[in-house]
Amino acid sequence: MTKKYLRLTVNERFQHLNLMINFSILVITGFALKFPTAFWVSPIAEAPAGMTIRGFIHRLSGVAILTLGGYHLLYLIFTERGRQMVMDMLPRLKDAKDLWETLKNNLFINRPAKEIKMGRFNYKEKLEYLALLWGTFIMGVTGFILWYEVEWLKYFPKWTYDVARAIHFYEAILATLAIIVWHFYSVLLDPDVYPMNWAWITGHLTEHEMKVEHGLELERIEASQKGESLDVYGAASAGGGRIDPSRQGGGDQNFHLHRLYDTVRNLNEAIKKWRGN
Ligand code: HEM
Repeated sequence: MTKKYLRLTVNERFQHLNLMINFSILVITGFALKFPTAFWVSPIAEAPAGMTIRGFIHRLSGVAILTLGGYHLLYLIFTERGRQMVMDMLPRLKDAKDLWETLKNNLFINRPAKEIKMGRFNYKEKLEYLALLWGTFIMGVTGFILWYEVEWLKYFPKWTYDVARAIHFYEAILATLAIIVWHFYSVLLDPDVYPMNWAWITGHLTEHEMKVEHGLELERIEASQKGESLDVYGAASAGGGRIDPSRQGGGDQNFHLHRLYDTVRNLNEAIKKWRGN
């Protein structure tokens, strides 16, 4: 049996599910206002009082997502796991090094690709999480300005309202794209987790997922099981870039996306031979 590693507790999975539902509702009900003639908006626009209900649901979901944000802050402050999460989520120099080395690996500058061992949260997850916190704050502030338009315009010039509306709209596009392109790649399409990283349902990561994305954290866990301690914050980067999954014992070698990796690697080798180095 493959080993499993706790990634998300029931409480954290509940927060994730809540975020997932509310964010989806906000995207649909928000963009429906901007693109009322789009084909996917017609069920809303053509329903009796559909657009009024849309506005109501958008605000309700907005309040729900901000309440969840408040709950999450309390969780970070008042629980042991939450405080540890803050420590592990802080950006460090190693994250910049990991990003740099990953780029070098992906652009075939590092030959052979360097192995990297990342902590409990890797640089991608830290960036995504910080973008989520910042984005929710911005959407909350600008959302309330749009909501209380009349009151706002009593005290502030019209251009400030227009700026808030532009920020709300463009941040909405950014956030939606970040989820579809960035988050969905990491948790669905990435060959190491495809068809899905199940942690949001099961709460666990596999040993293979731990090795590829959180090698340093895996070493810390193994050391602590032996009663030793590992200074993960002080640990130097063991190189950089991802571990090529086809060199991993834990991966499914027959998996078609892994074979794609092999094809790219073979192509690279062929080009190197052709260039004579
Ligand atoms: C975080 C996810 C959110 C997304 C993706 C989102 C998306 C959008 C979009 C695309 C619009 C249309 C903008 C335009 O027509 O220029 C909009 C409008 C609006 N949003 Fe949001 N929004 C979010 C959060 C919030 C929050 C947290 C609030 C409230 C606190 C809020 C309140 C409003 C209001 C009042 C409007 C304008 C009127 C209306 O929808 O009836 N939004 N939103």
